[in-house]
Amino acid sequence: MKETLEALLQEALGKIEAAEDGRALQEVRVSYLGKKGPITEVLRGMGKLSAEERPKVGQMANEVRDEIKTKLDEKEQALEDIRVAKQLEEQKLDVTMPGRPIEKGTKHPLQAVVEEVEDIFIGLGFSVAEGPEVETDYYNFEALNLPKDHPARDMQDSFYFTEELLLRTQTSPVQARTMEAHNGVGPVKVICPGRVFRRDNDDATHSHQFMQIEGLYIDHNVRMSDLRGVLDSFVKRFFGENREIRLRPSFFPFTEPSVEVDVTCALCGGKGCRVCKQSGWIEVLGAGMVHPKVLEMSGFDSNEYSGFAFGMGVERLAMLKYGIDDIRHFYTNDKRFLAQFKRV
Ligand code: DAH
Repeated sequence: MKETLEALLQEALGKIEAAEDGRALQEVRVSYLGKKGPITEVLRGMGKLSAEERPKVGQMANEVRDEIKTKLDEKEQALEDIRVAKQLEEQKLDVTMPGRPIEKGTKHPLQAVVEEVEDIFIGLGFSVAEGPEVETDYYNFEALNLPKDHPARDMQDSFYFTEELLLRTQTSPVQARTMEAHNGVGPVKVICPGRVFRRDNDDATHSHQFMQIEGLYIDHNVRMSDLRGVLDSFVKRFFGENREIRLRPSFFPFTEPSVEVDVTCALCGGKGCRVCKQSGWIEVLGAGMVHPKVLEMSGFDSNEYSGFAFGMGVERLAMLKYGIDDIRHFYTNDKRFLAQFKRV
C-alpha cells in the first residue's frame, strides 16, 4: 500500500511538472483527485486492512492527496504568472509615441471682427444691445422716419412674411427698440451687432444676408463733433493709428444731418490708387445726428435730448482690413480661407 501511494505521488508530481497549460493541469487534477481516481480507490480498499495498518494508510493517503493538491495549485499560479507576464510584454504601451493631432477650428473672421468692434466701443463706454431678426414694419421702417410710401424704402427691399412682418433690412430698428425701453430718459449709449437681410442679387460685394453694427448715443448736448471724435477714435483703433476720416454730406431718413464716413486708403495712404479709385478715400459707414422725429417717436423729448447714430457693414470692415476681394468667401465654409484667420 505504502509503495503504491508513494509511486502514485511521484507519478502525479511528474505529470504536474510536465503540464504546460491550465487544461493539462485540470486533467491531472481530475484523474488523481477525482472520485474515480487511484487515491479514492486506495481509501475504498482500506476495509481489507488490519486495524493497525488502517490509520497509517489513511493518514498517508490524505498526505499524498494534500501534497498533489498543493503542487497543482502552485503550478496553476505559476502558469498564470507566466501568462500575465507574456501578455504585458505583448501589449506594451509606448507612452512616448506622438499622439494623433486634433485639428483646432478658428473663430470665423466675421465673429472676430464683431468682437473686436465690440471691445473698442465698450472701451468708449458703450454697451451691447440686440434685437430680433424677424422685425415688424414699424420698427424696421416707420419708427425710423420711413413711412409706408417713403421712396427710400426702395433701397432696402426685403423678404416679407406678411405685410407687417419681415426679415430686418438693417440693424437700425434696434435703435428704436432701445430708446423705447429707456422711457425718454438718457443717456443711451449702445452698439447693436446682428444679421440683416435684403432682396439683392449676390455678387462680389453684395449678399442677400450680411451683418451690420449699429451705434447710438443719446444724451444732453450730444453734438456732431462727438460723432466725429468717436468714429475717428474707432477707425484709428480698428484700422491703424495713421488712418484719418472725413465726413461727406449724405442722406438717411433717420438722421439730420446725415453723412457718409470715409477713411484714408490703406494701400496708397491717401495719395490715390486703383483701390480707392484715385480719390485717396474709402467709404466705410453711414452716420448722422438722430432725426428729431425719430427721437420723439421713441419717447425722447427732442428739445432736451440730442444724439448721433451710425451703421456699418461687418463684411465690409473685414474686407477692408484683411484685403478680401469677394464677400462670398465668408459664407462658403472653405477651410483654406477660414484657416488664414487663425491668429486674428
Ligand atoms: N441703416 C443704414 C443702412 O443700412 C446705415 C446707417 C446709416 C445707420 C446712418 C445709421 C445711420 O444709424 O445713422 O444703410
